[in-house]
Amino acid sequence: MRARSLRHRRRNKIAKRRALIIGASRGIGLGLAEELAERGWHVFASQRSVSEHLGRAAEDAEIEVVTADVTDPATLEALAGRIEPGSLDVVLVNAGIIGPESQSVTNATADEVTEIMMTNAVGPAHAAMVLLPLLKDGGTLAFTTSRMGSIAESSGGYDLYRMSKAAQNILAKGIFEQDAKRRGIAVLSLHPGWVQTDMGGSGAHLTVDESVAGLADVLEAKHAPAHRFLAYDGSEIPW
Ligand SMILES: NC(=O)c1ccc[n+]([C@@H]2O[C@H](COP(=O)([O-])OP(=O)(O)OC[C@H]3O[C@@H](n4cnc5c(N)ncnc54)[C@H](OP(=O)(O)O)[C@@H]3O)[C@@H](O)[C@H]2O)c1
Repeated sequence: MRARSLRHRRRNKIAKRRALIIGASRGIGLGLAEELAERGWHVFASQRSVSEHLGRAAEDAEIEVVTADVTDPATLEALAGRIEPGSLDVVLVNAGIIGPESQSVTNATADEVTEIMMTNAVGPAHAAMVLLPLLKDGGTLAFTTSRMGSIAESSGGYDLYRMSKAAQNILAKGIFEQDAKRRGIAVLSLHPGWVQTDMGGSGAHLTVDESVAGLADVLEAKHAPAHRFLAYDGSEIPW
């Protein structure tokens, strides 16, 4: 459990910004829920099934546990019905999977392609559309994408994962153009860095704490209505 500073506790009593994180049972999503709560936010944090880690985090932090599966529209609709429209400052769709061990298109089965595209691209975009009415005008809609979804920077390899994140990025752009821009909502496609989670592995460059400290700074900043591809340290990534 993270140490909570007096400064953060005091801030808690002043302004209560509100965030919803989809995919917060472990890893980056869980770390970010804890980080934002420490910074004085009220955080709605979602799990697919009961997460002991999230449950423990919610015991002594401003974290409200909710349920959502980005591939199950009924869970998204039910969640949307629980939160007041226009009441959130940030919605982050963080859910994602790495996909099958063999990432090559030459071996991929239709089921594997369906699963990774539904979980990393179609599901997150659908979730964002269902949850967008909960955001304040001028708020921030964010997706956890990956630098591996950058076409400009791609070295090839990891076909399925790259494809799914590139697809998520184009869907995020569409949501910005069609639905978010007119409400002054910024859409951020965020790369968390290579992070020590179940997905990133223990050899990754960043700890969860390092990644989420940067991500929280990015999410706390005021963004002009635009669709941007940003790393956890706020630097721009080419599409
Ligand atoms: N770690 C890295 O180095 C790295 C780098 C670039 C991008 N990312 C991205 O960062 C995000 C978080 O990754 P992580 O490293 O924290 O991975 P992780 O430890 O494997 O956690 C993945 C999270 O996504 C949730 N999730 C998966 N499928 C879901 C679904 N259908 N509906 C709702 N939630 C779902 C998981 O919930 P369950 O516990 O229920 O499975 C879990 O909370 C992902 O989008 C990933 O692609 C990670």
